[in-house]
Amino acid sequence: MRAALLFALVAAASAKSFSRKAFATPLSRGGDRIVGGTDASRGEFPHQIMLTRGVGGSLMCGGSLVAADTVITAGHCCDGMSASRLGVEVGSHMLYEDDPDQEAFAVKQVMLHEQYNSNTITNDICMLKLDGSATTGANVGFIGFPASMEEYSEGTDCIVTGWGTTSAGGSLAGTLQKVTVPVVSDDHCRDAYGQNDIADSMICAGLDQGGKDSCQGDSGGPFMCGNQLSGVVSWGYGCAEPGYPGVYTQTSYFIDWVNSHM
Ligand code: ARG
Repeated sequence: MRAALLFALVAAASAKSFSRKAFATPLSRGGDRIVGGTDASRGEFPHQIMLTRGVGGSLMCGGSLVAADTVITAGHCCDGMSASRLGVEVGSHMLYEDDPDQEAFAVKQVMLHEQYNSNTITNDICMLKLDGSATTGANVGFIGFPASMEEYSEGTDCIVTGWGTTSAGGSLAGTLQKVTVPVVSDDHCRDAYGQNDIADSMICAGLDQGGKDSCQGDSGGPFMCGNQLSGVVSWGYGCAEPGYPGVYTQTSYFIDWVNSHM
């Protein structure tokens, strides 16, 4: 399973080219794990979950626990997936080792955003209902949502976490990584990616000089500006490339959608 994932990552990295087409499939949209980050401490992000290929399977995406039986992840992580092919692991810190509070759940229901568009990567959000309820504690907890339509000014520092690759085409992180990246305005993000490629419901973040970003395998995971789920890891050109910020689903645009599916 893991070998297959790594192969896919390597294939995606070598297929990367500087054209709009290079963005066309989810795997070509990232580079590698959280880039330029540091190890999180155990229990620092108790809402972080691993979305796995089947219960107890290999890492497919990240996600956030928002209620005992509810996870928010990216739409592209759910696209075409039946509940039986997914699993959710809560309370994890180490990717390849068992953690004391980790608990794996089957998925009961996959609710991909009705307007998710895999070409434009708009409405890249999905809600999962677990077959059971997570036990909360020091290493398992929920994250809350921002106010509806909340906006974040350029330069606001946000944190993104995951076990994704630590460089484009690199390997996954064994320990949960975290990295702080400043918000880039939609205007500046459009200057980078093109005027039509950044929807208002996307939020961008990264350094001008690159070096810090989310990457392949982080998708679906939390992007936090303060103690709230401000965004969901969605896409980017490579990972941590200068001039190309990471692009996140801006959760504040989906509060009504979330509430109607809770
Ligand atoms: N699509 C990637 C994934 O499936 C996430 C890419 C994020 N890329 C970025 N440069 N921030 O894991």
